[in-house]
Amino acid sequence: MTPDATGETPADAAARASAEFRADVLHGLAQTPKRIPSKYFYDARGSQLFEEICAQPEYYLTRTELAILEENAAAIASAIGPRALLVEYGSGAGIKTRLLLDALDQPVGYVPVEISRSALDASIENLSEEFPEVDMLPVSADFTRPVDLPAPDQAARRTVVFFPGSTLGNFEQREAIGLLRTMAIEMGRQGAALVGIDLQKDPAILEAAYNDAAGVTREFTLNLLTRINRELQADFQLHEFEHGARYNAQAGRIETHVVSRIDQVVAIGAHRFAFAAGEAMLVEYSCKYAPEDFAAMAARAGLRVVRSWSDSRRWFAVQMLERA
Ligand code: AVJ
Repeated sequence: MTPDATGETPADAAARASAEFRADVLHGLAQTPKRIPSKYFYDARGSQLFEEICAQPEYYLTRTELAILEENAAAIASAIGPRALLVEYGSGAGIKTRLLLDALDQPVGYVPVEISRSALDASIENLSEEFPEVDMLPVSADFTRPVDLPAPDQAARRTVVFFPGSTLGNFEQREAIGLLRTMAIEMGRQGAALVGIDLQKDPAILEAAYNDAAGVTREFTLNLLTRINRELQADFQLHEFEHGARYNAQAGRIETHVVSRIDQVVAIGAHRFAFAAGEAMLVEYSCKYAPEDFAAMAARAGLRVVRSWSDSRRWFAVQMLERA
């Protein structure tokens, strides 16, 4: 296989990703309380289950954000201005991207930044047919680290980083501020960012969103164990674990755990980890923001909120940021 610009072949990249996954899981399981980073939910099955979560009646986030973008597409496009280079962190199903590209005035390029090659390729494939005049410049990288952005054929007037879905909420405050700082670097002096955030609301609504009646979120959570079993030669017994998602009002976040039903020992390769009955392993935070708290976080990253779009219930917001 041929190396890319970094000198790494796809086989090298896959081996490195797998070694990182193993190291992160072994490290997280050795901690008290045990934890596993939520980014590992998204193998092929996990990504498919997340799409199914978005279609559940309780999971209002995706459809609310989409409605905000649809309703305000023209206002967002005019706030951004012409000839933007659109950079997206993580490449989703492409619906929100399509909406933005459609509304923008002569966008010069689209740069999805995403670790998974297959997800990247899929996101570009459909869009390039629909937007032949937009340079499609996929970057296979971890967006939590600064990346060298490719230059589009036509010079961009400004770079706009699009980070939808309240994915920022999966990071702890310190990491989220670090990520906002990376975005500030990436966008440059004249740049902007569009960040989707989920807002604080009645805990019953939040808890329902992460405990859907059909059990899709439960399956999504437990799929992490299936992935570890398959990729790291582990022996999690799925029926001996449960999904638990609760709102921590103090911290303003949904905390999702994998809870052990019984005292048990799990093998991961040559390693052994004991779980007590009722022991909870942290697998995800989904932070819910008060708009003023988000603005304060952005300020700590050298950014200011210049525009904000929300729905009539104030459940979700799309915030536009520029350098302070
Ligand atoms: C796509 C990561 C933002 O935290 O709401 C959905 C993932 N987890 N249900 C979120 C998720 C459980 C989702 N993010």
